[in-house]
Amino acid sequence: MKSNVCLTGIKPTGIPHIGNYFGAIKPAIELAARYEARYFIADYHALNTLKDPVLLKELTYKLAATWLACGLDPDTMLFYRQSDIPETFELTTILMAFTSKGLMNRAHAYKACVQENTQAGNDPDAGVNMGLYTYPVLMAADILLFNTNLVPVGKDQKQHVEMAADIAQSLNFAYGKDLLTVPEPVISETTQVVAGLDGRKMSKSYDNVIPLFIPSKQLRKIVMKIVTNSQGVDEPKNPEDAHLFSLYQLFAAPEEQAAARERYLAGGMGWGQAKQELFEAMDAYLAPMREKYERFMQDPSRIERILKEGAEKARPIASATVERVRNALGIN
Ligand code: ADP
Ligand code: TRP
Repeated sequence: MKSNVCLTGIKPTGIPHIGNYFGAIKPAIELAARYEARYFIADYHALNTLKDPVLLKELTYKLAATWLACGLDPDTMLFYRQSDIPETFELTTILMAFTSKGLMNRAHAYKACVQENTQAGNDPDAGVNMGLYTYPVLMAADILLFNTNLVPVGKDQKQHVEMAADIAQSLNFAYGKDLLTVPEPVISETTQVVAGLDGRKMSKSYDNVIPLFIPSKQLRKIVMKIVTNSQGVDEPKNPEDAHLFSLYQLFAAPEEQAAARERYLAGGMGWGQAKQELFEAMDAYLAPMREKYERFMQDPSRIERILKEGAEKARPIASATVERVRNALGIN
């Protein structure tokens, strides 16, 4: 029996991309070998920004199919959809009473919106709904409900996990130290930030993503759009300067990486050839998972069944936590 619980969620707000895979999905699946894994689709977090019911459903299935194709085994890991765990919302309401408004004012996601508004000369809270403002509380409920020790997340989510830990400690301070497990963020060191087409962090908000599972032909087209400098074919190129090379490193074996590094430094290799090599490495790496993904996407009822069965296994754990907290609070 693995002793520590590791949990993470991803919002179904876009088509999963290479950054999501190396930054979140792959490390989470690796952690499952050592920890009790609990992974979920954060659809109520997505609702803050996504109000198209057809799209929300479609993106939920695509994200679920991605997790499953990438190696999530629903028999040995808990895999569910946030909205199938109603205990989440009861715990959220409880946690609200222990979360200071000032803490929410400091949350990055909210602060970024306010800053954008201010710079544009708009009302600071324009377009900010309460879901976004209280986002870290819902996230804390996701985490605390399942007695989580470790939360693998990207750097941008570290603060939210620390807030979950703060909130847990407030309750433990008031009602006894063992009431809630205090979680810790785990940031993957090797692939902290995967670069996008333009060299900035790959993110759907920057419109610079390489989707994880698209047909080879489309993948090649997108790879050809990666921005490079204007050095000619003959010029030696610095691999450390090229995000094209940093992407290649994610897909190629160490000896292939070393050989490519030599070709960059020697000159004589144009960016077109470097892109072709990246495409080939990517395509070979992704093809087996892409096949699985497509099979899942052709059978949404299978995805639905897996998620429902996951929720059935998850709910007893969640309700035991809510029960314990309610008893401590005197609401029983
Ligand atoms: P996006 O930035 O495209 O909106 P999300 O915020 O939905 O992506 O991210 C989902 C998960 O994938 C998070 O754990 C996040 O840290 C991780 N992630 C997203 N983009 C990258 C990236 N470029 N490099 C590494 N990890 C990433
Ligand atoms: N907020 C996370 C993100 O934007 C998604 C998320 C929701 C999450 N609940 C969580 C991540 C609980 C870890 C644990 O990426």
